[in-house]
Amino acid sequence: MTIVTGVTARVPAKLNLQLAVGPPRADGYHDLVTVFHAVSLFDEVTVEPAGHDTVTVTGEGAAHVPHDGDNLALRAVAALRTAARGGAAAGGVRVTIAKRIPVAAGLAGGSADAAAALVACNDLWTAGLTPQQLGEVAAAIGSDVAFALLGGTAVGRGRGEHVTPALAPATQYHWVLAFADGQLATPKVYAALDRLRAPRGSGGDGSPPGSGGSGGSPPRVSTALMSALRSGDAALLGRALSNDLQPAALSLFPALRKTLAAGLELGALGAIVAGSGPTCVFLAGTAERALELAVSLSGAGVCRSVARVTGPTAGAALVPAQG
Ligand code: C5P
Repeated sequence: MTIVTGVTARVPAKLNLQLAVGPPRADGYHDLVTVFHAVSLFDEVTVEPAGHDTVTVTGEGAAHVPHDGDNLALRAVAALRTAARGGAAAGGVRVTIAKRIPVAAGLAGGSADAAAALVACNDLWTAGLTPQQLGEVAAAIGSDVAFALLGGTAVGRGRGEHVTPALAPATQYHWVLAFADGQLATPKVYAALDRLRAPRGSGGDGSPPGSGGSGGSPPRVSTALMSALRSGDAALLGRALSNDLQPAALSLFPALRKTLAAGLELGALGAIVAGSGPTCVFLAGTAERALELAVSLSGAGVCRSVARVTGPTAGAALVPAQG
């Protein structure tokens, strides 16, 4: 007989259908408005009782994931232990992360792993935190962690941690992700955006701001995007995608221009850099079109590899134990 001691949670990657970035705040973060969208590319995080907290990472980009206190999943374990008031059951854990979401790719893989660790430890320790309480712990760990718990399609405000589900019909969208040969560090991309937006003579190049509020006006949700989501029309959605971080990501990773152009030439309904990049995201009208696009893109030599995903999908959730 096998005694099951571990608990596993599965968690999706996120896209930003809109990312409108405001000016930098005093704390170094940027106020933003974003429309998050969870897609079917999943990491799995298993937690088991242990003498002290450790983390092991396998799969996509495992070598690039920190194994120390910088690991977001380990930080989530520590934060939940505190929130659970160090209950007797909240001992050390061995965390094992099976990665399919590439690291530093603009898909919030690290935040996803933190969200999965919260869900898994809440169960392992029978800590009994409600989804709302877990959301509060998540918001303190990183800007995208609360959304990784929630999933679906949701509007994020503040630095992204205040999430509200978007009211939209249950349309399933077909996306192709083009993974780049390289990584982008999120803080560097935000810093590049600040430089691009700085007035001439102050170190920036005077580039015009993107779709969000930059020069002092607060960023707003795109009405074109929300009405596209309400209509469920993929062609409208493709035209309404926007990302203020895209010019910054392209300035740091110019090869992405070619990737985006190739996807549009091959018939994508929309093309955008994922979050802070460097993954490129393409929308297709049907599963068949997504397959054709994925095959053509991988043949075009404009990315490291491709994946087909659908969205929206649910947020971090327990995987039933087997056996
Ligand atoms: O919150 P998280 O750790 O995911 O953010 C990573 C980095 O991205 C931050 O340290 C900050 O440099 C940048 N960031 C930002 N404004 C946001 C979210 C993230 O400047 N709203």
